[in-house]
Amino acid sequence: MNMLANTKQILIKAHQGKYAVGHFNINNMEIVQGIVQAAEKLRSPVILATSEGAIEYAGINFLYELAKTASELSSVPVALHLDHGKDLKIIKQCIDLGYSSVMIDASHEDFEKNVRLTKQVVQWAHKKRISVEAELGTIGGKEDKVHSRGIIYTNPAKAAEFVRRTGCDFLAVAIGTSHGAYKFSGTAKLQIEILKKIKSQTNIPLVLHGASGVPAEIVKLAEKYGAKLSGVQGVPEAQVKLAIKNGINKINTDTDLRIAFDAGVRQAVKEHPEDFDPRHILAPARELIQKVVEQRIKLFGSAGKA
Ligand code: G3H
Ligand code: 13P
Ligand code: ZN
Repeated sequence: MNMLANTKQILIKAHQGKYAVGHFNINNMEIVQGIVQAAEKLRSPVILATSEGAIEYAGINFLYELAKTASELSSVPVALHLDHGKDLKIIKQCIDLGYSSVMIDASHEDFEKNVRLTKQVVQWAHKKRISVEAELGTIGGKEDKVHSRGIIYTNPAKAAEFVRRTGCDFLAVAIGTSHGAYKFSGTAKLQIEILKKIKSQTNIPLVLHGASGVPAEIVKLAEKYGAKLSGVQGVPEAQVKLAIKNGINKINTDTDLRIAFDAGVRQAVKEHPEDFDPRHILAPARELIQKVVEQRIKLFGSAGKA
């Protein structure tokens, strides 16, 4: 494809076809390549996403150019999205640079302020045909710059009012997931009844954050080479399938990629302590990222939809 793909087109197709497309967080070249190789192999559209923390780490131009190059070299649609935009200056920068879509995350503000900020971003973005994801309710967990105290489930009636008043294109919903590797202390259970109501009252593509599966085989591999991951728990595949069946069309995954990358680096360093060539350390991480993304794409039902 000769330019970044259009997130809205990708997600409207998923909304109509009742499947989900993966949003995968990127921080460096190897992660981008692992993700896009998986999408290419399975003929799936894919959404690459940069958090504000990733932008701070790598620089917005580096990440933008990596995604654009990946898209140009690929024969499947590759979109670039800003994840959890909280800083209006960064959101504006992404819009000006030509991201496919941006997220305004004002979910920590009160309802009226969330509406006001989201409306402002929608106004900026739509002028340039860039689509907007917003969030209502709070997703649990804590990462670098993304954190919240607990989960407040999205109220379906408020969600309908929010979408109507803001004109946002996609809505991130809080139905029990949380960011990071420690999602549930007991049984994992998503609020599917709430999701059903939100979908029927908004009728737009819905987004599931904090959706990593934390697959046992990758955790085991990382642990075998020294990672300390006791107590980690992801969203079980059956729950993800149920969420897709009931209206989720975009699924965010970062933690699974982090654990895969970590496992690959640890294995390479431990098994070949005499080898200090970065390419030999990072290539296995890239391969594991590809493997995990392939599993996600198959689970989401987007294989063959490119
Ligand atoms: O949802 C958050 C993403 O996993 C990004 O996390 O802010 O640590 O880059 P980060
Ligand atoms: P995970 O931590 O479950 O991978 O969620 C990532 C996410 O929601 C990014 O926005
Ligand atoms: Zn998130």
